Amino acid sequence: MIALDGVSKVYDGTNGEVRALDDVSLTIAAGEFVAVRGPSGCGKSTLLLTVGGMVRPTAGTVGIDGRDLYALSHAERARLRADRIGFVFQMFHLVPYLSALDNVLLPTLAGMRPDRGQAAAVLERLGMSERIHHRPPELSTGERQRVALARALIKQPDIILADEPTGNLDPENAAAVMGYLADFHREGGTVLVVSHDALAEEHADRTLRLERGRIV
Ligand SMILES: Nc1ncnc2c1ncn2[C@@H]1O[C@H](COP(=O)(O)OP(=O)(O)OP(=O)(O)O)[C@@H](O)[C@H]1O
Ligand SMILES: [Mg+2]
Repeated sequence: MIALDGVSKVYDGTNGEVRALDDVSLTIAAGEFVAVRGPSGCGKSTLLLTVGGMVRPTAGTVGIDGRDLYALSHAERARLRADRIGFVFQMFHLVPYLSALDNVLLPTLAGMRPDRGQAAAVLERLGMSERIHHRPPELSTGERQRVALARALIKQPDIILADEPTGNLDPENAAAVMGYLADFHREGGTVLVVSHDALAEEHADRTLRLERGRIV
């Protein structure tokens, strides 16, 4: 279970403070599929990064299965993230000089045995079988997005946090990506996805609306 209690995040920007999250409390049950919507700048990415252990809230707590994420040491938090959470960033974060296949294998290098067959299978299921040896600069935006999703899926996390995973995809590939998230959910995974795609809402158990850092 994911539990946010009174979470606020204030960024100290060069142009003053921005309250990106304002007293957000919410719980997401294990195995739930939750979609997040809201206008640009309302705090969606900040919410995901906070849940993912990457942005420390200014106030409040984030619990993952009863463990206070930001009370853990940096190493413990990194471990929990590596073991449990797959993250699809809004800006991919792919390694430019590795092939698509090796980008997908990246999270498995620390710990697990890398399984090239499995990585290739995940890419294939996302319609990427012809591109597995291409490097990110040689891929289209939508293809990079699918590599990022494959990378989140490869380590078989309990939780997937995905930030606009279909933002740059045509309807067919968007449906494939959402279908893959839905499969993950059907197999018991927890999904928190920021998306304006109607398909996300269709698959979701629940849709949250954020406005100016608050759930409305
Ligand atoms: N590192 C930062 N420093 C200062 N302000 C920031 C920082 N990151 C985000 N913000 C501000 O916090 C607010 C929330 O940003 P966030 O990225 O969470 O929005 P979002 O809902 O994901 O928007 P989008 O739909 O455009 O991706 C925005 O007003 C943004 O300008
Ligand atoms: Mg965002």
